[in-house]
Amino acid sequence: MQHMTSKAIRQAFLDFFVKNDHQYYAGCSLVSPDPSLLFTSAGMVQLVPFLKAEQKPPYPRLVNYQKSFRTGDINDIGSDGRHLTFFEMLGQWSIGDYYKERAIELAYDLLVNVYGFDPNLMYASVFAGNEQLPKDKDSIQGWLKVGIPRERIIELGYSDNFWIAGQTGPCGPCTEVYYDMGTDVDPNAKPGTNNDRFIEIWNAGVFMEYFKDEYGNFNALPQKNVDTGAGLERLAAFMQGKKNVFDIDLFRPLVDLISLTLKVDYDHDPKATKAVRIIADHIRASTFLVGDGVKPSNVQRGYVLRRLLRRAIAQARLMGNQEPILARFVSEVIDTYQDVYPELDQNRARIVGIIEEEEKAFAKTLNQGLRELDKILAANPKAISGDDAFKLHDTYGFPIDLTREFAEEKGIAVDIAGFDKELQKQKDRSRIGSGFTLGKTMEKDYAETPLSTFVGYETLSTQAKVVQLSVIDDEAQLVLDQTSFYGEGGGQTGDKGEIVGPNGKLTVTTTKKTKRGVFVHVGKLAGTIAEGESVTATVDEMSRKQIMRYHTATHLLHKALRDTLGPLVQQKGSSITADRLRFDFNFDRPLTAEEIVRIEQIVTDLIRKDLPVVVQYMPLARAKESGAMALFEGKYDQEVRVLDIGSGISRELCGGTHVTHTGEIGQIKIDKQESVGGGIRRIKAV
Ligand code: ALA
Repeated sequence: MQHMTSKAIRQAFLDFFVKNDHQYYAGCSLVSPDPSLLFTSAGMVQLVPFLKAEQKPPYPRLVNYQKSFRTGDINDIGSDGRHLTFFEMLGQWSIGDYYKERAIELAYDLLVNVYGFDPNLMYASVFAGNEQLPKDKDSIQGWLKVGIPRERIIELGYSDNFWIAGQTGPCGPCTEVYYDMGTDVDPNAKPGTNNDRFIEIWNAGVFMEYFKDEYGNFNALPQKNVDTGAGLERLAAFMQGKKNVFDIDLFRPLVDLISLTLKVDYDHDPKATKAVRIIADHIRASTFLVGDGVKPSNVQRGYVLRRLLRRAIAQARLMGNQEPILARFVSEVIDTYQDVYPELDQNRARIVGIIEEEEKAFAKTLNQGLRELDKILAANPKAISGDDAFKLHDTYGFPIDLTREFAEEKGIAVDIAGFDKELQKQKDRSRIGSGFTLGKTMEKDYAETPLSTFVGYETLSTQAKVVQLSVIDDEAQLVLDQTSFYGEGGGQTGDKGEIVGPNGKLTVTTTKKTKRGVFVHVGKLAGTIAEGESVTATVDEMSRKQIMRYHTATHLLHKALRDTLGPLVQQKGSSITADRLRFDFNFDRPLTAEEIVRIEQIVTDLIRKDLPVVVQYMPLARAKESGAMALFEGKYDQEVRVLDIGSGISRELCGGTHVTHTGEIGQIKIDKQESVGGGIRRIKAV
């Protein structure tokens, strides 16, 4: 085998395919151009429109190297020498041009004649077929033709030899090349199973002739494509005679720097080996992610980045480090890659700054969490309960990943199932309460998103265009150009309902509105929805009508409170859902039983009168003159929305949704009162 640097391997790949009539097509950002994926996870991600024959490529045969990131592997990092979160993928494509035989010929030629792999140690896997899809006989023929004997061609099933990015999209059977690392590694290992002896070198061709839709059907694409991908780091490990990717030229200087800084023996202490590998992988990935504009946050891509950085910091802590150390490592990564990815060097100060800041912020959380963990372990040195793990997460911001890792370190079990249960309970609680579980950083995440038009006063269902979609874990956030969904605000909870597109559906559990006015629909996605698509957004009518009844009732309650307790009483906050209303007001003692009866009586009378509820728009100055209660200050000429009940009985500035007549409310009962401190009382009513 040739000994080659990573740089030479990358270049030889490009040169080989250019020589064979392919055109270089630059890789894209790690922030996926395909909205159904958070990150670019393979070279084909940016090429989907070409593969689906929706767009014409600049040339029918393309080649490149692509920054790639796969979140699924985060927990495997460090446990073996093959997995990475960030990696570079070398790939070439035939867009409706050559097919299986030629792809196999090219793969063999490059591996054997350029890189110098021994063909006698090469194995090929092909798709065995299943009830729905035929066996890939052509690939078997292709390998036989280049000289791989039948006994080294293995047939594997759908999970191994059928490839698709995500759940739906262009896909097909694939053929992979494995290399035998020798009987001394494991005399009994079989190619195709997950082991250290037979290692995959190249996915030498996904033969993309299908499009898998959200119903699981494989529809024929208008053309047949070839999509290949080889991990640069793995190729380099082979060609540099290394047993794992962390020893190659792209990694070893970083690994050495980390080991030296932490004063650990990477080569001989297995704990140090694992920790240093995790740090090396995560810092390299974080450097590239920040380089492509991702910032640490609690949602979406930012959340993944935060998780990487926190795991790296925690690993360093496990190895006894107390100092800020990441900046040095980030600089090392940039030095290594600046010739191939000059954008890293151009953004060096910004990248280092963002990562340093996150390190500083997390150090505090980490210290607090570790102190708390010590207390928990002092009380029960055998196991960490789900409750305690949840408390660490919820009260101290100490991620469950870290609890697990610190516990593992000490040989202590963590009740993960119990933790998950507590987490679910909290999610349910906050759905009912604020109606929103996703973070404080939303204002920032949507700072540049175009504003949404709200048409939900007039209609519960509307056609709209998808402006932005983000999916993380099982939660999706969708922004439309216009929507009938009320975004949580002014005390009223966000609407739930359904958003249906041609290829998928979002079941909306709540809607949030940013201060600027972007409406974010939050929920679970089935199938796919793409930016630019037309969708139908329909609010859950039952739930919205309940909310409207509660909201109008809140105004009546406000009126009744002032009538009963005096005009100094004012609303100080409210929360309205489909199940109850909560109302805060300034008052310095509990209400008496008589006062409660009186308040309920006033509200009931106003409901019985079936008063009209009318919306008027006017400048703030005029609204105030007309006796509307303005609970906020604004510009006098600002146009405001006034909600009038019974021609002046109640007039309030309000952006919420209401019934048209008070009779629709039914009946209201105050079922709880309490103090929330600071001279503020709270009542709940149903
Ligand atoms: N897209 C294929 C892969 O990532 C080549 O394996």
